[in-house]
Amino acid sequence: MCGITGYIGDSDCSAIVAQSLKNLEYRGYDSAGVALLDDELHIHKQSGQIDDLTIPPMPDATCGIGHTRWSTHGAPTDANAHPHSDCTGQVAVVHNGIIDNYERFKRELREDHRFTSETDTEVIAHLIEDALDEGFSLRNAVENVVSMLEGSFAIAVTAVGFDGIIAARQDSPLVLGHGENENFLGSDVTAFVEYTQTVTFLEDGDLAHITADDVRITNGDTVVERDRQTVEWDADAAEKGGYEHYMRKEIHEQPHAVRQALSGRIDEFAGTVDLDLSLSDEYCKSIDEIQIIACGTSYYAGLYAAELLEQYADIRISVHIASEYEFRANRDPWRTLVIAVTQSGETADTLRALRKADGAGARTLAVTNTVGSTMAREADDTVYIRSGPEIGVAATKTFASQVITLALLTVYLGRQRNVLSSSEASTILNEVSEVPGAIQQVLDAESVVHETAKEFADSDAYFFIGRRFGYPVALEGALKLKEISYEHAEGFASGELKHGPLALVTENTPVLAILTEGTSADETLHNVKEVESRGAPAIGVSSETDPNPVFDTVFEVPKVGLMEPVVANVYLQLFAYHVASQKDRSIDKPRNLAKSVTVE
Ligand code: F6R
Repeated sequence: MCGITGYIGDSDCSAIVAQSLKNLEYRGYDSAGVALLDDELHIHKQSGQIDDLTIPPMPDATCGIGHTRWSTHGAPTDANAHPHSDCTGQVAVVHNGIIDNYERFKRELREDHRFTSETDTEVIAHLIEDALDEGFSLRNAVENVVSMLEGSFAIAVTAVGFDGIIAARQDSPLVLGHGENENFLGSDVTAFVEYTQTVTFLEDGDLAHITADDVRITNGDTVVERDRQTVEWDADAAEKGGYEHYMRKEIHEQPHAVRQALSGRIDEFAGTVDLDLSLSDEYCKSIDEIQIIACGTSYYAGLYAAELLEQYADIRISVHIASEYEFRANRDPWRTLVIAVTQSGETADTLRALRKADGAGARTLAVTNTVGSTMAREADDTVYIRSGPEIGVAATKTFASQVITLALLTVYLGRQRNVLSSSEASTILNEVSEVPGAIQQVLDAESVVHETAKEFADSDAYFFIGRRFGYPVALEGALKLKEISYEHAEGFASGELKHGPLALVTENTPVLAILTEGTSADETLHNVKEVESRGAPAIGVSSETDPNPVFDTVFEVPKVGLMEPVVANVYLQLFAYHVASQKDRSIDKPRNLAKSVTVE
């Protein structure tokens, strides 16, 4: 998730673009840049925080675009920072999202164009250059280029001698702001809400030509009128997209985050996955064991992945709490693949474990959200989960993206090792690609969770139970609730209740049970009856079609096969959120916790 901004008008353009960029810092903060236009194009960009970027005053500039980056392609370097330009330096492009087919264009363009970055974005500038050379206007050039691009993106383009900015969106947000003799552009209204609250949200397929006193929007061949709306948000609310907390916003971003994790990586029909890994066929076949190392929520994502990998890639798996990890060279270490699952890529415990594995001669792979992070740099290979920045301390969307990315890795390894047929792979990929829609259905049912959370907010404790894929989700549900509500919550393997924890169960300890595909739901139902007969309220998080009378409440999970538990988890996130909200907790910054734990 990057941030795009743009301004055209009579006020101090460079100051406004700089301020808008600062407002969007939360969308990405590994590099930033602006292109300001007077008679020439002036690009200032560099890696690092926005505060490090010097934007000189430019009294004659009346038009500018800016970008704050969260890397998806290429490390956070000065060269990879946006805006990107063409060979002539006449065109400037900023972009948010992923261009799936950029490599093909880059190959084709390489003969006649000089590329200066590793980004997917730069191909857009060069494609526009070619179209301009063929005599297209900038507007038509952008329209042509956009029609060739696959993926999800929002772009803004300006060029020397052009009046205004061209903006286009496909599956990535863009909003216009309207002032007196000036117009604004932003990935969200945070960019410019202090200057105007009159906005137009662009729709997928829209292309807007913005000048100081006019906005013309087309979609395909049709000129469209989009409603102007007034947003009542202040800057703080706007940054949270109108939600009260980042955590709730990030819970709601999960359909998009999962789509980003899948974008350009899967071929459902062929049953193949491309994760841009350098693992050879022979190496994949030779892997004897996978050890997953991680902490907290990422550890639970690792437990989920272990079930998948064991079942579909036919590899012996062990999952380790990173702070407890000692590399066990049971066999030749080079036949052990050690996977560090880490949202931040910086967690000290996981880094130490990764270094231990590396030192012992194992091959290492980081699964992370953070391009350029220490683990992304130190691991032999890296797969990005592409969630975009997560600001709430409690991990939410990154859990879903980790599980989905690890599911793709499972299919990749299963296919490379010849243990997964293309039709089995297609089935998994079908299920995975239905996850965003299924999560959206859960989000649409949030009011039911809200009511249930209100009903149970004063409970003595909360227990979460599940089997197989439901077990890590039970652990994660409990972790989320305890970290943001400060209430006692525990997750158990359903079958373990009767071996001790049942003693804690009373009529004031609700039990939330995961009953979906891949969770041995019938067996868990027996355990639910055990708690129910002791008076505990039971909440089912279930994809079973018959509402079961044992439950006080059922949260219905859409059917998506083995991905159902990760969808069920969204209910648990919402439950934790609404219980914590009832108690007026500091949801985004729970006491004693930090987003990235860089001490051992
Ligand atoms: C819980 C949470 C933590 C992290 C853990 C590992 O909501 O966020 O448990 O999952 O600190 O962090 P990363 O994934 O950055 O290594």
